[in-house]
Amino acid sequence: MPPPYARHTPGLLVEARELTRVYGDGEGVRALDGVSLQVRQGELVAIMGPSGSGKSTLLNILGALDLPTSGEVYINGQNLTDIRDKDAFRARTVGFVFQLHNLLPTLTARENVEVPMIGQLSSRARRARSEELLGLVGLADRMNHLPGQLSGGERQRVAVARALANQPPLVLADEPTGSLDTKAGEGLMQLLRDINRSQGTTFLVVTHDPAVARQTDRVIVLADGRVVREDHIGSPLEEDLKMWIHSDLGNLILAGEREPMRSLGISPRQAEALRELFRARNEGD
Ligand SMILES: Nc1ncnc2c1ncn2[C@@H]1O[C@H](COP(=O)(O)OP(=O)(O)OP(=O)(O)O)[C@@H](O)[C@H]1O
Ligand SMILES: [Mg+2]
Repeated sequence: MPPPYARHTPGLLVEARELTRVYGDGEGVRALDGVSLQVRQGELVAIMGPSGSGKSTLLNILGALDLPTSGEVYINGQNLTDIRDKDAFRARTVGFVFQLHNLLPTLTARENVEVPMIGQLSSRARRARSEELLGLVGLADRMNHLPGQLSGGERQRVAVARALANQPPLVLADEPTGSLDTKAGEGLMQLLRDINRSQGTTFLVVTHDPAVARQTDRVIVLADGRVVREDHIGSPLEEDLKMWIHSDLGNLILAGEREPMRSLGISPRQAEALRELFRARNEGD
């Protein structure tokens, strides 16, 4: 008899079932302790959680850089344990962006972006694709710079261009904004969002930054190697407004009093919309 759940669920780009990862022998470190998750094609998902909660371990397994101790992963319908040639699988299916962008320091931006295409495309096609991608990330005029001649944010955008080289359906990013200031971090997230919308690329982004998470569709929170929460996120504005809900202002809005609203410059229509939002939120709690 086939084992239960022997097949992947159609329509999911990423499906993980009961993943565990124990580092070392015997007792070891249980970095993942039964993680199941599903990501649809075209989603932009944040993974959050305290240091040591298993985020990087999870990303490494989803990207076929590491094997789980137990559990199953399907990427694009393929069971990772069935894949013999992991390198070829990664080259076609997964792009990686890491915090410390690990660009090759002696290669120019254009040459760095070309690296994953070696063996996939002719040198002329690699060059054309690399130039196109650097244009896409706004670095058309920096193609011949070495990484050391670029800002942190620019280097990170080169890393994004490189991750997209072979048009992978899935990009895994481990704290891509971690080394950037707020403004550059926002710019990078905006870029990921644009690519997500225009190319349909699915992103899983590990982050500690709530401002980054707010720019995604959904947040998966890990703690001690388990999924402890999954939130769907509304628009950034909605999320900001929801933070008022338990404040004095939130109470005023819920109470529907006109005068305080007027003095705050909130129109009756806006106030009504906010009340709806807060009521929905209260019911959701
Ligand atoms: N190669 C390894 N050998 C042994 N233990 C490891 C190894 N890699 C990670 N761990 C342990 O596994 C746990 C999860 O580590 P992981 O790197 O996945 O955490 P993380 O959530 O990415 O943390 P951070 O936010 O600090 O990057 C930690 O307790 C860590 O010490
Ligand atoms: Mg990590």
